[in-house]
Amino acid sequence: MREALNFAESIDIDGPELAPDAVIAPLPRISVQAFCETPGLAAVIEESTHDRRMARAHVKVHMGGAPAALEAYQAAPTPNLLVLESSADPAQMIHHLDALAELCDAATRVIVVGPVNDVSFYREMIKRGVSDYLILPVTPLGFIQSASGLYAASGAESVGRAIAVVGTKGGVGASTVAHNLAWAIAVAQKVNTVIVDLDLGFGTAALDFDQDPPQGVADAVFAPDRIDANLVDRLLAKCSDNLSLLAAPALLDRVYDLQETAFDAVIDVLRASTPCIVLDIPHVWTSWAKRVAVGADEVIVVAEPDLASFRNVKNIFGALKQARPNDRPPKLVVNKIGVPKRPELPLADFAKVLEIEPMASIPFDAALFGSALNNGRMIMEMQGTGKVPDIFAQLATAALGRQPIVKNKTSLLAPILKKLRRG
Ligand SMILES: Nc1ncnc2c1ncn2[C@@H]1O[C@H](COP(=O)(O)OP(=O)(O)O)[C@@H](O)[C@H]1O
Ligand SMILES: [Mg+2]
Repeated sequence: MREALNFAESIDIDGPELAPDAVIAPLPRISVQAFCETPGLAAVIEESTHDRRMARAHVKVHMGGAPAALEAYQAAPTPNLLVLESSADPAQMIHHLDALAELCDAATRVIVVGPVNDVSFYREMIKRGVSDYLILPVTPLGFIQSASGLYAASGAESVGRAIAVVGTKGGVGASTVAHNLAWAIAVAQKVNTVIVDLDLGFGTAALDFDQDPPQGVADAVFAPDRIDANLVDRLLAKCSDNLSLLAAPALLDRVYDLQETAFDAVIDVLRASTPCIVLDIPHVWTSWAKRVAVGADEVIVVAEPDLASFRNVKNIFGALKQARPNDRPPKLVVNKIGVPKRPELPLADFAKVLEIEPMASIPFDAALFGSALNNGRMIMEMQGTGKVPDIFAQLATAALGRQPIVKNKTSLLAPILKKLRRG
């Protein structure tokens, strides 16, 4: 508990205000014990345990504040993270912290939560090794961000953004969107990116990028104890300057009945070293597939304009919203618009009935997508500019949280403005 801590770094004087796109790293497998004084804070910490970033932490909430903690740790070891609510007067809290310091394990971090907004009180607490002080009221996400900040490897900057792409049916183009999105992020946005093909038996990422890697994601999934940054580095195939691929074996010599946590280790390692990870999830609803989608920072759902997709969008959005209470809803991409002679559900119905505004709609273009596929090239490589490459470019900025997507609505004044510019 008594560690030298940097005052400026550890105290969040303005309270837990989050940038809308801040990536908060998931907490490691730590024990967390909170001693609350008010039911309000106890409820906030209980609520935080339902967040995806807390899935691995073991959290216990007690009442009674610092005095109860003092009593509990006379006999029991202290947890990795101790949370104390202090509505008592500051002098009494300092007194409790001094007494607790005698009992605390050296590795135990302490977060204090209280109503007092006073710099000299902060300083006294920091001197005593408190890692963070949160001013009430605290939100579940504010608490998670504070706790995560204490355990993230080397600051929030090094935490990679994980973007999961899932389809509402097989063949809707989820992999196509995932691959082209990863390309646009890596090449157009110049963000170092890894694409992970989670379709172990049938994944096409290696074909789509014209790669023939000897190893790939299966070696990482089947050797969870050996996974580290070096191993994952050796498994990556380079697709371009900023883009690497963790390919699927696409061999049927074994079956792939994966455990729920199969991809945890490899995603953790990638998050620590790569700014952006695109997860191409096959069309299944297994424990591991749900876990990967729920754990991502951003989820993109790819649908076709038909009834089955319509129903599945509703269900996927519902399941993910419930499992990700503190996250924005997934983003919807409707693909293969305008297949010749095929009746379609109008896009406006997605927006009206499901109250989900598609973020992008991609036209069906058999020639363009077919020749990209046959040549092992991405759409942006086939066509520098045009409607489809522009959509992927916009998707990339939106998925990175860089700017909201702008709809390609041509203004009535556009032809006049064009003429004026020419003249
Ligand atoms: N907008 C599109 N126009 C034409 N063909 C497309 C389009 N999007 C995807 N495809 C094609 O559809 C097929 C299935 O795509 P894929 O990405 O493998 O689907 P999923 O991963 O959802 O199963 C591929 O042959 C792909 O080239
Ligand atoms: Mg696929």
